[in-house]
Amino acid sequence: MSDNNKINKSKPMVVPKGPGGRQMAGAGAKPANAGKTLKRIFSYMTSKWYLLVIVAVCVLCSSGAMIAGNYLLRPLLNDYIIPFIGQSNPDLTGFISLLVIMAVLYGVGVLATWINNRIMLTLATKTLFRIRTELFEKMEKLPLKYFDSHSHGEIMSLYTNDTDTLRDMLSQSVPQLLSSLFTVVGVFTMMVVLSPILTLLVVVMIGLMIFITGKIGMKSGKAFKAQQENLGKVNGYIEEMIEGQKVVQVFCREEISKADFAQLNNNLREAGTRAHTFANILGPLMNNLSHVNYALTAIAGAVLVIMGKLDLGAIASFLQYTKNFSQPISQMSTQFNGILNALAGAERIFRLIDEERETDEGKVTLVQVMDYNGVLTESFAHTGMWAWKKPDTGELIPLKGDVRFQDVSFGYKENKTVLHHIDLFAEPGQKIALVGSTGSGKTTITNLINRFYDINQGAITYDGIPIKDISKDALRSSLGMVLQDTHLFTGTIADNIRYGKLSASMPEIIGAAKLANADTFINHLEKGYDTLITGDGGNLSQGQRQLLAIARAAVADPPVLILDEATSSIDTRTESLIQKGMDTLMEGRTVFVIAHRLSTVRNADVILVLENGQIIERGSHDQLIAQKGKYYQLYTGAFELE
Ligand SMILES: Nc1ncnc2c1ncn2[C@@H]1O[C@H](COP(=O)(O)OP(=O)(O)O)[C@@H](O)[C@H]1O
Ligand SMILES: [Mg+2]
Repeated sequence: MSDNNKINKSKPMVVPKGPGGRQMAGAGAKPANAGKTLKRIFSYMTSKWYLLVIVAVCVLCSSGAMIAGNYLLRPLLNDYIIPFIGQSNPDLTGFISLLVIMAVLYGVGVLATWINNRIMLTLATKTLFRIRTELFEKMEKLPLKYFDSHSHGEIMSLYTNDTDTLRDMLSQSVPQLLSSLFTVVGVFTMMVVLSPILTLLVVVMIGLMIFITGKIGMKSGKAFKAQQENLGKVNGYIEEMIEGQKVVQVFCREEISKADFAQLNNNLREAGTRAHTFANILGPLMNNLSHVNYALTAIAGAVLVIMGKLDLGAIASFLQYTKNFSQPISQMSTQFNGILNALAGAERIFRLIDEERETDEGKVTLVQVMDYNGVLTESFAHTGMWAWKKPDTGELIPLKGDVRFQDVSFGYKENKTVLHHIDLFAEPGQKIALVGSTGSGKTTITNLINRFYDINQGAITYDGIPIKDISKDALRSSLGMVLQDTHLFTGTIADNIRYGKLSASMPEIIGAAKLANADTFINHLEKGYDTLITGDGGNLSQGQRQLLAIARAAVADPPVLILDEATSSIDTRTESLIQKGMDTLMEGRTVFVIAHRLSTVRNADVILVLENGQIIERGSHDQLIAQKGKYYQLYTGAFELE
């Protein structure tokens, strides 16, 4: 199965949620440098700094309006409602205007909250838009090496999980935390103003509540973590089973899989029960405690009133404040954790954005040329003739397709050399075959020609120019590649062939498809060339996908062609059918062909036999057969190519 089809073992994509769906403490990794990351996130918004000011003002307004509105309960009771008791015809003008003021205050609060939410939401989505754009642009510029050491799932979760939590943080957690802070400070001040003694009582009660929340929260945090780990295991197992469903069925392992799954599923159930037991206790407990708090405060307040130390209006206001005080305090820790979680995610995003991009010191470019009596001049019209252009002198070197390796050694990782002292030369128009068992380094050689990876030692030249001096775009546009893993994109069949040359006309596309012998099967599809391909060509056979990949390379009409097991999944009959097309395709081009079936490389100019990253034999088919070495063994079937 090709790497592209693999579902990677991602980190579990689900962020643990605590009571009320918010993220729990201890769930994600903590940010390494919260301050710096926060500053960087806000730097995305500073072009609209005035909006941030408006947000801060709105947050202040809504908290302030709530605090002031609540305070007005005191004069409302003391100056109007209590004196009204027993009066048959009270004068309501002052009372009504006070009510209107209160209504306006609460109205302003609601309006301010609405404005602040709208602005933060727009700012947050804009910021995410910019971050996603940067992330994607950077991803397109990363060296392939990056993808060797980072799984698809890991990279995917930057776009999904991490951006999601970041949005929540910007549009919710940050403004809410800000509002909580304002409210707590404001309400506390007002409570002290109204009655220091009652404030002391409330503080003690809330201290007790925080203590209990902390205790249960810690237990529940651990339980949630355990639940998360178990969820990760279950998800991983499911992914693996989806991927390996065919193998499971072939080996009749359904029952065993079911049993394994039941075990994992049961662990998850138990962990889930434990986690939610704590979480479910917490809510009602807190509710009841706050009711107790309310009642105690009311009783203590009544005592103070009876003692003549406090007026009735003050108690009404104070009780209102008590409610407004405990709520933001109990929410602050979840908001704070939400922010920490999001910051950790943002750091992962920024880490990718800060990755070193693929370097390219190559300055030699590829240009179209005209030939005036043997003198090349650059042409801006389409001539079909190409030449390398040196950056400083402007010298033009005709593109021929002469590729040479001199003493090339290479390893993907520093301490593990994969290719040892490779020497090879391919003259223009030659067909070079690479054969050897799986893992011997054939694909690696092609990875070096197109500079997917840069070499550690030795030199590779292309028409006499060291390839590291050629810009990667120019180099790759001169190479036609059929990779070992075919990859098709969502789009029509024609689109997928056109991927090789965006300006290709329909006749060109059909011509290329005919060359690759793909035309027949395409015409049998219901919509022909307009048939939609989805999910990496899941509706086509492996062989059909390879035919399309060959057509895609053919349409680009490159001077050098690299075919990496391009026909490995095509049956021998179809292969012999396309052989003629392939031969036409290869004519006049330098071709590196890695072949699965040795019969297809018989007519190669040079056959290189690789073993453990070394060339152990080289020569034509007849020479190698006569040599009676490894090639002879491979060819006569003494050794099967895997
Ligand atoms: N991206 C990679 N990172 C690390 N090692 C790799 C990578 N690709 C291939 N290798 C290793 O390099 C060796 C040669 O692989 P490859 O050139 O793909 O062999 P072949 O195409 O002949 O089957 C193998 O041992 C393989 O494990
Ligand atoms: Mg290979």
